[in-house]
Amino acid sequence: MSQSVINIAVIGCGHWGPNHIRAFSSFPNVRVVAAADISRPNLERVGKAYPDLALFEDYRRLLAETDAHAVVISTPTSTHHAIVRDALLADKHVLVEKPLCRASEEGEAVVALAAERGRILMVGQVFLFNRGILKLKEYLQFGDLGRVYTMVSTRTNLGPIRKDVNAVYDLASHDIAIFNFLTGSAPIEVSASGAAYLQPGVEDLAFITLRYPSDLLAHVHVSWLNPRKVREITIVGDKKMLVWDDLATVGPICIYDKGVVREPYYEDYGQFQLLAREGDISIPRIQLEEPLKAQARYFLDGLRRGSLTVSDGKSGLEVVRVLEAAQASLSQRGLPVSVKS
Ligand SMILES: NC(=O)c1ccc[n+]([C@@H]2O[C@H](COP(=O)([O-])OP(=O)(O)OC[C@H]3O[C@@H](n4cnc5c(N)ncnc54)[C@H](O)[C@@H]3O)[C@@H](O)[C@H]2O)c1
Repeated sequence: MSQSVINIAVIGCGHWGPNHIRAFSSFPNVRVVAAADISRPNLERVGKAYPDLALFEDYRRLLAETDAHAVVISTPTSTHHAIVRDALLADKHVLVEKPLCRASEEGEAVVALAAERGRILMVGQVFLFNRGILKLKEYLQFGDLGRVYTMVSTRTNLGPIRKDVNAVYDLASHDIAIFNFLTGSAPIEVSASGAAYLQPGVEDLAFITLRYPSDLLAHVHVSWLNPRKVREITIVGDKKMLVWDDLATVGPICIYDKGVVREPYYEDYGQFQLLAREGDISIPRIQLEEPLKAQARYFLDGLRRGSLTVSDGKSGLEVVRVLEAAQASLSQRGLPVSVKS
């Protein structure tokens, strides 16, 4: 893309959309030119904060009438597929909030359409731009933990409670994207159990087990029906272990120089015992940056370069395939389900 100034429009101005307007407005050579929302009060709220925005109740008018080069879609998940498709057909580049869509067929269609129209399609997996998560990736890439056995994630809070998707689609989409990013792969098989207490058929919480290649076992606990806000991942390797806690005050990562060693048993040849090795605990210094701004910058750079390597449509589709398998397992009371490849 050759334009020196990039025009952005935001579709969906509820809880999250205004954060995108703020993030994109903070860059030089970027103009946020328009916003759309079917809710008049939500539109007026962003109009008050950003008086230069052109406002539309119908996003199709925004696509047809503005000179936006790219749109950010921050509407409920159930609407993503149709809006992404319309935006690509209007030759806009797209940053769509997670998850890309509900069904893998929808995801396949928009990924193919983006390629056909030569447009960038990115999924807003904001944790892939979190400095703590990027540090974890570095540790794994350089083999600091040794062979990784397990990754366990907890993502709980009281609310926000959604109606169009369950806690798996809403919350576990983050953890699956993180695990796929960290391992550079996607799970082969998923089993999930969950419960819908607040709304019939919409699971408020789930326990999801993911089998990755190389015998790596991962687990995700998600809930919007929990008293405590937790954003935590534990990674266990054969050399070291660590915990990432996004809400920790001292630093998001704690490295445990711990492991299990095999010691020979007295004089009995060939016998051994497994002993815990207890080493130092350290907290690396990490320069933090607002992940949403880092994500916006990456999208803008991607538009200028004409390509993305992180969080593109294809990786968003891989997440949807895992969510779909988790949903199939949920409805079969935890039966393992293979992930479509
Ligand atoms: N990355 C993150 O950490 C994060 C955080 C929150 C939300 N999200 C994602 O952002 C998206 C929106 O979430 P939210 O919390 O802002 O939801 P929300 O319900 O608060 O806001 C959605 C907005 O979209 C509007 N809308 C609905 N249908 C529309 C349509 N057809 N055209 C135009 N506007 C329409 C609604 O009126 C509402 O204002 C979801 O996909 C969610 O998963 C991501």
